[in-house]
Amino acid sequence: MRKKIIAGNWKMNKTLSEGLSLASEVVNMANDEAPSDVTLVLCTPAIHLSQVSAIAKDAKTVFVGAQNISEHESGAYTGDLSADMAKSAGASFVILGHSERREYHFETNTQLAERVKLALAKGLTPIFCCGESLETREANEHVEFVNNQLKESLFDLSAEQMSQVVIAYEPIWAIGTGVTASSDQAQEMHKSIRTSLASNFGEDVAEGISILYGGSMKPANAEELLAQPDVDGGLIGGASLKSRDFIDIAKSY
Ligand code: G3P
Repeated sequence: MRKKIIAGNWKMNKTLSEGLSLASEVVNMANDEAPSDVTLVLCTPAIHLSQVSAIAKDAKTVFVGAQNISEHESGAYTGDLSADMAKSAGASFVILGHSERREYHFETNTQLAERVKLALAKGLTPIFCCGESLETREANEHVEFVNNQLKESLFDLSAEQMSQVVIAYEPIWAIGTGVTASSDQAQEMHKSIRTSLASNFGEDVAEGISILYGGSMKPANAEELLAQPDVDGGLIGGASLKSRDFIDIAKSY
């Protein structure tokens, strides 16, 4: 049975006190209102991981994620975060390959393949991001482009390893723009991703993988997107910074 997951990507937002307030609100609202079969993940900047993890312990369905980890276990990598550090601060998930990191930090599919393997080895659930630019979609090359991201970063995994990975499809043209993919567009790509995974790992593994949609998901559009057969949740940016919106998205199932 695929997990329903609503993950919030706080990106580079919230001071320590603001993060404490937001996480406390989300946990309280999750306990009071959120469906018990929906996993909520708060993917915060590293400074928040410890305190948000401590707060999340009060909620059965709220977990914490990092927004990236190094492919190195430790060492002279100034500014980076290791899997062990993230895990020690209470993270159980980690976003990998977000388009903003691919763009601003020049992350490659090969580098991400190493990070996925290290995350799994350290007991972190990767949320592996893929998605195309507007130019690629307008050229009708989006399916091939996303397939290649999956192939170069995930296809060397064993079926057992792949079964532990969460995928997030985030069309770059929908991130932070307010231009959300239509439910048909989302379903088309999610189905394509699942088919691609099935070709390499088999139907059983592919059917068990949660594929999240990310890109301007809001309370107003969440219900239609989450109703799609191959949409298993969302990776939420802006709307995750408001506890009411984030919980309302989770309640949209
Ligand atoms: O990782 C989720 C993020 O890229 C989506 O951002 O603000 O469009 O929900 P947003």
